[in-house]
Amino acid sequence: MKKYNVGVIGATGMVGQRFMTLLDNHPWFDVKVLAASPRSAGKKYIDAVGAKWCMDTDIPEQMKDMIVMDAAADIEKIASQVDFVFCAVDMKKDEIKALEEAYAKAECPVISNNSANRHTPDVPMIIPELNPEHAKIIPAQRKRLGTKRGFIAVKSNCSLQSYVPALYPLSQFGIKDVLVCTYQAISGAGKTFATWPEMIDNVIPYIGGEEEKSEKEPLKIWGKIEGDRIVPAQSPNFTAQCLRVPVSNGHMGAVFVRFENKPSKEEILNIWKNFSGRAQELNLPHAPKQFLNYFEEDNMPQTKLQRELEGGMAISIGRLREDTQYDYKFVCLSHNTLRGAAGGAVLMAELLCAEGYMD
Ligand SMILES: NC(=O)c1ccc[n+]([C@@H]2O[C@H](COP(=O)([O-])OP(=O)(O)OC[C@H]3O[C@@H](n4cnc5c(N)ncnc54)[C@H](OP(=O)(O)O)[C@@H]3O)[C@@H](O)[C@H]2O)c1
Repeated sequence: MKKYNVGVIGATGMVGQRFMTLLDNHPWFDVKVLAASPRSAGKKYIDAVGAKWCMDTDIPEQMKDMIVMDAAADIEKIASQVDFVFCAVDMKKDEIKALEEAYAKAECPVISNNSANRHTPDVPMIIPELNPEHAKIIPAQRKRLGTKRGFIAVKSNCSLQSYVPALYPLSQFGIKDVLVCTYQAISGAGKTFATWPEMIDNVIPYIGGEEEKSEKEPLKIWGKIEGDRIVPAQSPNFTAQCLRVPVSNGHMGAVFVRFENKPSKEEILNIWKNFSGRAQELNLPHAPKQFLNYFEEDNMPQTKLQRELEGGMAISIGRLREDTQYDYKFVCLSHNTLRGAAGGAVLMAELLCAEGYMD
């Protein structure tokens, strides 16, 4: 595989820092550009990120002394130095939309963690194991943007990274209704216990916009390409409650599901065990060997024990049992800043490189 030069826009943030750890010594990607707000621009990365650095490992040597560029003012310069960018910025939605489109129009593909373009009809929202075929919309998007290379592809919200992978492979049974309650880590808000001490010994029953994302975004993943757009599916019917819990990393979901044709418990377990997708078929560098992992023990999966499974890229599931009102209930877990954010974006970029969309 050829090497690609990449940039990280929003490099100083929580997701940006994850990108640093994942892209350090990546076999296909060389980090050439780091960019953030004007507050950080012109500084060495180590000074710009300063005390905000909150990864378990040190800032990679390669990135420490890189001079941070201005994400908005330096678009042309950045686009001329890289093959594509990862983007994870905390800005207003319309500003992010304009920023991502400006990169794409400068012929620099954007792999985005932001929500601004998730419902743009010709922007694919890809989980590489589930809907890799949605990348086929990219030529239509390029036509709209008037670009040869440039396009935007997005990652879904971190909340649904645990339950959508568990449910999607069961689509053959006709999934009718899904009720999910998520228990979400504070890193999902870009925070640590040091920066958000109010979360210690506390649960906050509200995460702005999260329930709507958790109910609506899965339908795009289940959607189909029709002409120049991805048309969201009409079902399953999702309802969600999202709670912030005092956990550093890892989002858990408690799921209730009703099918048109109720499968047996063994059928579900077999499907999960044997499920793999395009990411595994292509043996992508960040693809987990076993995507869906079922734990038999009644007290598993646990956030602290399983969130790092296969580098935080695998999904952990447990407690599958029949329910009195729905057909089944179970719990599931994914690492929100790895599979749910930077890791999922890196895997999507690997998929798009392997499938020729970055050439
Ligand atoms: N955390 C998660 O688990 C998670 C999961 C999925 C998706 N996301 C999404 O990823 C994005 C970033 O989240 P985060 O948690 O990493 O946020 P964060 O820690 O607050 O970091 C925000 C980043 O955006 C940059 N930024 C802020 N204003 C800017 C501007 N005007 N121009 C250019 N850059 C600017 C910041 O640069 P400075 O340091 O210079 O201010 C910083 O690099 C958000 O859209 C979020 O919804 C997060």
